[in-house]
Amino acid sequence: MRDGLDDVVAASTRLSEVDGEAGRLTIAGYTVDDLAPRATFEELAYLLLHGRLPDPFERDQFAQDVAGRRALSPAAMSVLHYAAAAQASPMDALRMGVPMLSLGRAENPLDDSLTAIAAFPTIVGTYARLQHGEAPVPVRPDLGHAAHYLHQLSGEEPSAERARALETYLNTVCDHGLNASTFAARVIVSTRSDVISALAGAVGALKGPLHGGAPGPALDMVFEIGVPERAEAVIRAKLDRGERLMGFGHRVYRVRDPRADVLAEAAERFYSSDGDRSIYDLARKVETTALRLLRERKPDRRLDTNVEFYTALLLHGLGLPTELFTPTFAVGRVLGWAAHCLEQLRDGRLIRPQSAYIGPTNLHYDRQLAHAAA
Ligand code: ACO
Repeated sequence: MRDGLDDVVAASTRLSEVDGEAGRLTIAGYTVDDLAPRATFEELAYLLLHGRLPDPFERDQFAQDVAGRRALSPAAMSVLHYAAAAQASPMDALRMGVPMLSLGRAENPLDDSLTAIAAFPTIVGTYARLQHGEAPVPVRPDLGHAAHYLHQLSGEEPSAERARALETYLNTVCDHGLNASTFAARVIVSTRSDVISALAGAVGALKGPLHGGAPGPALDMVFEIGVPERAEAVIRAKLDRGERLMGFGHRVYRVRDPRADVLAEAAERFYSSDGDRSIYDLARKVETTALRLLRERKPDRRLDTNVEFYTALLLHGLGLPTELFTPTFAVGRVLGWAAHCLEQLRDGRLIRPQSAYIGPTNLHYDRQLAHAAA
């Protein structure tokens, strides 16, 4: 067996299904392309936490409840101030800020989940401002979830188009089967630990470049290429050096990641309405060239576009700097993490796989040798 748990089923879930052969993502019964561009994030949150879409009354009550949980405690604010003084990365600041959400509150899985979903945008937005020497902006309970995040970042109320583009992104990435960070969260609560601990662990797992850290480098590649005519030479050189092309390949999808299509459409809509499509058109060219060269280099392994490629393009269009791409992913994915924690607590068993020992055996401890080595 190969390390990495490929093809191992470690949990049963009603939250999402990733069909890697068909390139289909189902979220609690709905395909991602049906749901993500049209639903509000709050509706998706209700769907994943309660198992069905809300009626209009439930939707409004739920949105109000979440909006009422946006403010951070003075202790959490203080941690973010310290993090900014130490020039921590936004993802590290988020990892430091999340545990503060448990301070002064009794552990309660649903309550912890709602608080974290509401507070992630405030943590990331507050920290982004502190990092650039700007004062945090007060929370606004009257804005929708996606609009509120943009407001926390910029201090300005976003247009409906900008809020919709971000909302489509957050919806698209809110859950995705048993990816590494979700698995990490489920493992943590499977010990009957609390949801906030699980979310802190999940943030740590998402930080790595093989998981949520890819969109920054994906955008860097597009900028490095600069003009469509350079795409072939730059990508060939990267592959010659044995580099991986960020934004391509996936552990489960053997065809194009369906989230890439949803975000490509959202990015096209957004860039077209913005008037300047040049970066979008360049990215399309980079994508087709990368796919052709990957097929040439790895004919036996289908490497296709993943969600991160168009994430980069969309978030860049919304004016987010690259260091906020992964924390923004976390703002969407915290919903899936929380829903998986609730499901694991309700239905799951302790997750405790085994390892295959490949080290030596029959060694004997020699006290003198041990002292000499020290
Ligand atoms: N560019 C070039 N070669 C690649 C790429 C890539 N993006 N992805 C995989 N390969 C190659 C590997 O070098 C390897 O080649 P080899 O067999 O000659 O050594 C082969 O394809 C298989 O690679 P694995 O690492 O075994 O495949 P795995 O299923 O573990 O990879 C992963 C999945 C980590 C996402 C990989 O495709 C990758 O590194 N992609 C770039 C990073 C990225 O975009 N990450 C975001 C993923 S989406 C998400 O997490 C939200």
